[in-house]
Amino acid sequence: MSKVLIAGGAGFIGSNLAKKLLAEGHEVIVADNLTTSSGDNIEEFKDNSSFTFINHDVTSTIPSEITADAVFHMASPASPNHHSKISYHALAYETMMVNTIGTMELAKFAHHNNAKFLFASTSEIYGDPLEHPQKEEYRGNVSTTGPRAVYDEAKRFGETITSYYWREKGLDARIARIFNTYGPNMHKDDLRMIARFIMQAVENQPITIFGDGQQTRSLCFIDDLVEGLTRLMFYDNTKAEIVNLGNPEEHTVNEYAQIVKRLTGSSSEIVHSEELPQDDPLRRSPDITKAKKLLSWQPNVGLEEGLLKMIEYIKNI
Ligand SMILES: NC(=O)c1ccc[n+]([C@@H]2O[C@H](COP(=O)([O-])OP(=O)(O)OC[C@H]3O[C@@H](n4cnc5c(N)ncnc54)[C@H](O)[C@@H]3O)[C@@H](O)[C@H]2O)c1
Repeated sequence: MSKVLIAGGAGFIGSNLAKKLLAEGHEVIVADNLTTSSGDNIEEFKDNSSFTFINHDVTSTIPSEITADAVFHMASPASPNHHSKISYHALAYETMMVNTIGTMELAKFAHHNNAKFLFASTSEIYGDPLEHPQKEEYRGNVSTTGPRAVYDEAKRFGETITSYYWREKGLDARIARIFNTYGPNMHKDDLRMIARFIMQAVENQPITIFGDGQQTRSLCFIDDLVEGLTRLMFYDNTKAEIVNLGNPEEHTVNEYAQIVKRLTGSSSEIVHSEELPQDDPLRRSPDITKAKKLLSWQPNVGLEEGLLKMIEYIKNI
């Protein structure tokens, strides 16, 4: 069993990852400064003797008394929604810092500890892609100065730092390019598409779609994602690999709105209320051939099964 540091482990993905690793018998240390989380997600671990929480900004050096065998860098604001107070627009400076300086600090810590390292990158490094679906070799179509650049470009540089560490320092590192993921423990202020649709639907408020709703999204349920992340970290053949993790099943935003409305039994009307935000991708879907081959991984949770769990979670917050 390993001693695992999860930077950003109080957040949505990190806390689900912590839960899985603790259940498998690992020791887990969460380093998080609660920028985009409240601590509620890790409340259930507080009496577990294999769990430690440190309130720490990972853009500063990890305290010297901490050691680890594996480091997941999951710390970053992640919501693109302009109306969210925890979005990477609202937290632009923090987003740039945590994905660049934070990545430097955590890679340095992993190197010092001779630990494995995983950087949580994103499908957003492909920008508004000109190729579908996106393979890992695709270099993207990204604006360096547009409104999403604080996130996209910081993640791209985070990948550069990670690859520098495996190439020049021999760090046992890898990069996960995570595509849209949803599930329990998402912050109620996150307001990413599916959470917003469900919140609107359960309150019978209008379900609001940006643009004409013909843009597509592919959504991965959290349990599938954390399985992929742990395989990518711990499988033998993964050093210096870059792997897409996401669900390739693609639907239009209009279809998601209709499915949510049906599953919640809502009387909400579906409205197209705003223009599509600048640089919002029209299509994005992962090619997961590499994950299938390298990790024997593919998503198993069906869309309706995952959405029903998410609806249950949202009704309870
Ligand atoms: N959720 C998705 O669909 C998705 C998609 C692609 C990539 N990702 C990436 O996965 C990672 C986790 O995303 P999430 O959805 O769980 O987001 P989240 O906002 O729920 O969790 C991020 C966590 O990082 C913490 N954090 C932020 N800055 C920090 C800092 N400087 N020091 C310490 N902790 C800090 C936050 O407090 C929060 O607990 C992020 O790197 C994100 O970019 C997520």
